[in-house]
Amino acid sequence: MELFKSYRAPKDSKVTIGGTAYPTDEWTNVPSSIIGLADRKPRLYLDSNHPICITRKLIEGQFGAPEYKNHQIPNPVVSVHDNFDVLGFPPDHVGRSRTDTYYVNKDTVLRTHTSAHQAQHFREMDSDGYTLSADVYRRDAIDRSHYPVFHQMEGARLWDRNSVPQGKLAEAIWKDVEALPKHDIKVEDPNPTFHPERNPLQSEFHSPEEAEAVAAHLKRSLEGLIVQVMSKARQASIEAGDQASSDSQPLQVRWIEAYFPFTSPSWEIEVFWQGDWLELLGCGIVKQDLLNNSSCTSKIGWAWGIGLERIAMLLFGIPDIRLFWSQDPRFLSQFHHSRINHFRPFSKYPACPKDVAFWVKHPAKGFHENDVMEIVRDVGGDLIEDVKLVDEFTHPKTGRRSLCYRIVYRSLERTLTNMEINELHERVREKLEGEMDVELR
Ligand code: PHE
Repeated sequence: MELFKSYRAPKDSKVTIGGTAYPTDEWTNVPSSIIGLADRKPRLYLDSNHPICITRKLIEGQFGAPEYKNHQIPNPVVSVHDNFDVLGFPPDHVGRSRTDTYYVNKDTVLRTHTSAHQAQHFREMDSDGYTLSADVYRRDAIDRSHYPVFHQMEGARLWDRNSVPQGKLAEAIWKDVEALPKHDIKVEDPNPTFHPERNPLQSEFHSPEEAEAVAAHLKRSLEGLIVQVMSKARQASIEAGDQASSDSQPLQVRWIEAYFPFTSPSWEIEVFWQGDWLELLGCGIVKQDLLNNSSCTSKIGWAWGIGLERIAMLLFGIPDIRLFWSQDPRFLSQFHHSRINHFRPFSKYPACPKDVAFWVKHPAKGFHENDVMEIVRDVGGDLIEDVKLVDEFTHPKTGRRSLCYRIVYRSLERTLTNMEINELHERVREKLEGEMDVELR
């Protein structure tokens, strides 16, 4: 309800996050509901009996001492400089827009990814590698695998040219690759390690042999992690007596090419989950400019960023991302420090879909779906399971666009009454009309 009060924050007001007050300006769009989540204690990834924390520790176990140091960074407020500029995000990158990112003010955001801390960690690194875990924030779609706050873990591993004889770097990295645990899962990886247009080698800085070696180390390390996660997930689901999963198809995992402003070449890993390819992580060979600007001129290496919720959903069989924020003891009491067990749904309450249709009055003025999402989220909070565009057309004469969204209302904890849903839906309609440039149909 508070969203648009803070969204249209009056000049020289302030927002307080984690006990610190920040001045607002015309960029401010962080609603109080999100600040509430940012301030929630204990943090899910530090709460030892919470699935997000158990997942974090499982991954840290694969990327542990002495090679890697494991960090956590509780304060989510970072500068635009650290979140975007340092990482080479072009000025017009969509990630920078207010439709995608929560701005505290024009110079300050709620971090959208853990990569916001890369440069600083490269600068201060006193081990070969590190991981860092944190809560991250994005204005995004509403469905079972997207929530405006989620958790990421970033990993990085560097090698120093100066610590091996000249020309021997690739060989040294391959030695480390050989030392990694092997696995027997077939991972689809149809693309070349680098490709001149689609996924370029940083040829100014890296030889093809060096990039091949770094890529092999990165891929083998992450495949090892995924294999471990999937086998623990399967074991948990067999223990829970889930027949479908004990009979299920072999695990399907694939590498695809990707783009990030701060790595090249770049990739993503996807696994086949509940009938769809689910993206688990992004990674790549760190841009040398970034390393050079972070006092690591003689180093080369990789970085990855993993979505902890996605991994936890696989591990614990958690079907809806909203559950991670549930304070219902029927959810929380199911999980225990360092144990991977399958979630037992306490009950499934009925879903209630409702449509809202409207004309976009001035399409050219810039309509963004994420603004619809934010309004729905603001009114309905965790009572919204999913929001989808179900119909769209352009009027042949006026050129106006008509959109119809289906909002699925469903509580994870109880049955909603018709009256309550009608009331929420009416408020969504009013707010869409009041706050956006649309005319309800
Ligand atoms: N920060 C990226 C994201 O959030 C993931 C990533 C991390 C990609 C590190 C490459 C290297 O999508």
